[in-house]
Amino acid sequence: MSAEREPDAVEIRGLLNLLGPGQVLHRELDLQVRRDEVMSLVGGSGSGKTQLVRVILGLKTPAAGSVRVFGVSWDHPSAKRVRDTRRRLGMLFQNGALYSALSVFDNVAFPLRERGGMLEDEIRGIVYAKLAQVELEPAHGRLLPASLSGGMVKRVSLARALALSPDLLILDEPTAGLDPDRSERFVALIKRLRHAHRFAVLMVSHDLDTIIELSDRVAVLADQHIIACGTLEEVRAHEHHFVANFFGGERGRRAMAQG
Ligand SMILES: Nc1ncnc2c1ncn2[C@@H]1O[C@H](COP(=O)(O)OP(=O)(O)OP(=O)(O)O)[C@@H](O)[C@H]1O
Ligand SMILES: [Mg+2]
Repeated sequence: MSAEREPDAVEIRGLLNLLGPGQVLHRELDLQVRRDEVMSLVGGSGSGKTQLVRVILGLKTPAAGSVRVFGVSWDHPSAKRVRDTRRRLGMLFQNGALYSALSVFDNVAFPLRERGGMLEDEIRGIVYAKLAQVELEPAHGRLLPASLSGGMVKRVSLARALALSPDLLILDEPTAGLDPDRSERFVALIKRLRHAHRFAVLMVSHDLDTIIELSDRVAVLADQHIIACGTLEEVRAHEHHFVANFFGGERGRRAMAQG
């Protein structure tokens, strides 16, 4: 074991990300997610939050800049290191992105089977353990995604994201479309899981209550880069119309007063 400090979960420096030729989405973007924190990423619709997540997952190759996940760059020459690093990430996509033809059980088993080297018995044990973690019954495993409620889709997606026991969990709008009660339960679930398993979280969200409840720090994406990053109080003090609208509107003031 090395005594050296372990690298951050995510470290992005000077990112340039294009949508098409000459069409800049991110420019001079820096972002750091520490290994022990919940970082929320906020920004207007279409500002490029989901696309930034795709870069972090290695699904999109940026035009320039450095992107490191647990110290490993996606253009690292060792394919094995990249593969091993990818397995440390759990992803809950914005729309749930469950495989509609696969049962709940097979959705959660998918990353385990894809990784290979496990017996079906072991896989079954893990799948049921993950379903239990997100408060679903074994019998739910037989259902198809089309028959699930919105809250259940989120929980099954979360179980799938947790299947490989990630060190960084990325959540893209985890509470969007959930009623306040379900959102609160989702937040409590993430808190409980983090308490037990100590993973880092990068959460994209528009939901101020959820952000206040979960975040250690908040990063604001606007004007193609991270314009502010820090604690809620620090970020709120930043002068930018997005920040003023997001945190200073009626909804924002109410949430901050409760938080
Ligand atoms: N595959 C794609 N090809 C070209 N442009 C795309 C593609 N996917 C997204 N975009 C564009 O990239 C921009 C950023 O999209 P992105 O999905 O990252 O926004 P977002 O911040 O996640 O928004 P929301 O809050 O609505 O989810 C948008 O202008 C979108 O139209
Ligand atoms: Mg998005």
